[in-house]
Amino acid sequence: MLPNDSDISKELIFFLKDRLGINDTSIFLDEYNLSNKEENLIKEFIDLKSQGFPLDYILQNTSFYKDDFYVDPRVLVPRPETELLVDYINGLNLKAGMKILDAGTGSGCIGISIAKYNPSITVYGIDYSLDALEVAQINKKNKLLDNFYLINSDWLNCIQERTINILVSNPPYIAPLDPHLENLKYEPIKALVADDNGLKDFKTITKQAKNVLSPDGILVFEHGYNQSMNVENILIESGFKNIYLMKDHQSQPRITTARLA
Ligand SMILES: C[S@@+](CC[C@H](N)C(=O)[O-])C[C@H]1O[C@@H](n2cnc3c(N)ncnc32)[C@H](O)[C@@H]1O
Repeated sequence: MLPNDSDISKELIFFLKDRLGINDTSIFLDEYNLSNKEENLIKEFIDLKSQGFPLDYILQNTSFYKDDFYVDPRVLVPRPETELLVDYINGLNLKAGMKILDAGTGSGCIGISIAKYNPSITVYGIDYSLDALEVAQINKKNKLLDNFYLINSDWLNCIQERTINILVSNPPYIAPLDPHLENLKYEPIKALVADDNGLKDFKTITKQAKNVLSPDGILVFEHGYNQSMNVENILIESGFKNIYLMKDHQSQPRITTARLA
């Protein structure tokens, strides 16, 4: 029953258990009699996986920060390094009534993971993609949150001045000709790619953040492992201070925080 490619095999076993409820023993002894429908499902799975389609899209589910999230090709599959953004913010001394903005919310994973563990603060998730907002809405509904709001906005255009205490963003940051894009062809290109060598959205958000953040506001960016110097310069040029860089689990510089004061 199992294909030769060991990676696809491992994921197929996961899929068989998740979707068809087949247990390990039956898989390895080949003793389970598949119906035609099940056989077709498996063929379709192997076909999709051979083309590099992400397992999380097939399962329509991913794990992020102690939780399950619905995902489909309308949104980026949340990455483990993004959990660090959430960890950092959830570790701050968040006071009741604070307002946090997740700019480019996609599946809603960052904003929802902050809202869920901080019921006394309000979190806004914005995205310009209506498709992405539909996915975020499914996740919001599944988590029964009443302190997470979704807004359709081109970056911070719809946000009132000086109203946000913490602005967090994992914006698109891959350069248009980056060869890694070849392996990401099923994820929404607009969630991945930014002009200006991947820096355009950092520049736009930083400029707008200056007006939208409260005077003691904090900006938290996830960026590419080789972009920390560029991001730092963008922040300094806009007058941000107290710039602090954090590494991910692979010891790559991944998160930069900055303050207005
Ligand atoms: C890298 S994805 C991050 C998704 C999610 N926050 C995560 O960490 O998995 C970037 C998100 O920014 C959104 N985005 C891109 N350009 C935007 C813009 N001009 N205004 C608002 N959102 C934008 C994309 O639709 C996408 O959902």
